[in-house]
Order: sequence, then C-alpha cells, then structure tokens
Amino acid sequence: MTLSQQQQESVDLVRHWVEEGRPFRELCQDVVSHLRAGYPHYNWVGVYMVEGAVLRLWAWDGPAPTQHVEIPLHSGVCGWAASTGETVNVPDVNQDPRYLQCFLQTRSELVVPIRRGSTVYGEIDIDSDALAAFGPQDEAFVQAICELLARRAAAEALTGRTLGA
Ligand code: SME
Repeated sequence: MTLSQQQQESVDLVRHWVEEGRPFRELCQDVVSHLRAGYPHYNWVGVYMVEGAVLRLWAWDGPAPTQHVEIPLHSGVCGWAASTGETVNVPDVNQDPRYLQCFLQTRSELVVPIRRGSTVYGEIDIDSDALAAFGPQDEAFVQAICELLARRAAAEALTGRTLGA
C-alpha cells in the first residue's frame, strides 16, 4: 500500500523522533497530537499501553477526555486488538458488539497494535465522527507509525504481552 505524501512525511517525522531517542511517553504524546492536528477525520487519538491484564491510557488528543482510561484486555474493540495483535477497522461502531462507547458522536474506529513480533506493547486508538472513515491506506499508515513506536518500546524494555501466552 502506497502512502500519501503527507502520510509518508509523518512516518519520516516519527522515525526521526525515535532515532533521536525521544522517551516513549513523550513520543506517544507527540504522535497523538501530530495525528489529530494533521488528519481531520482523526477526531480523537489515544495510545493505550498493556499493563498486566489491562490497557491504560498513556496519551491522548481530542476535544474531550474519555472515561475509559483503563480497559480490561477482554473488553472493547481495544481489548480485542491487544489480545489478538491484529488491526481492527470498525466502519460502524453501532453495529459492532465489541464496541465500548466513549463519545456519542463517534461513528467509526481504527485500532492498531503497537507490536513487535509476538509482543504487543499497546495500541493506537482513533475515533472518527464519520462513518467508515478509515481505509486500507489509513491502516497501512498507522501500522507504520506503530512499528516505529514498538521499536522504541522494545529499546526501553517496556513490558508487553506475548501473544498466545
Ligand atoms: N471504543 C473503544 C474504547 C476506547 S474509546 O474509543 C477512547 C473500545 O471499544 O474499546
């Protein structure tokens, strides 16, 4: 999947941040702010990290805070993505039984694991107010960003979850 020029520039910027050794927490906040500012259909962007049996919100950018600052791994679209290590693109959240509601206006959601091999460190969660807002190009773009975040998470020896364990 070929990324747009804007997406490629974002990936290059995040790669630069990772290579200069920006600490993971700071990196997460910079990434969510950058994504929300540059991509109008990304209405709320968060990073959840695996902490034992839950996902905890480490960084977010959006019009309002979420009440879901801690999500059990067996719960929600977020829990599903972290448990399986797979990207979840939900075109209509109201049709998905896994969906945990945060914002009334959310219509679609994209969750991409921050994963390196069989280790899932966390995920990027993006909510959109538009139906079916995310296409294959968004998936490839956010996956490229998550690969870079996973590289930094591994360098800091953060604790992840091993798939299948
Ligand atoms: N909708 C998510 C919960 C997180 S909020 O969207 C920020 C879910 O179903 O897991």
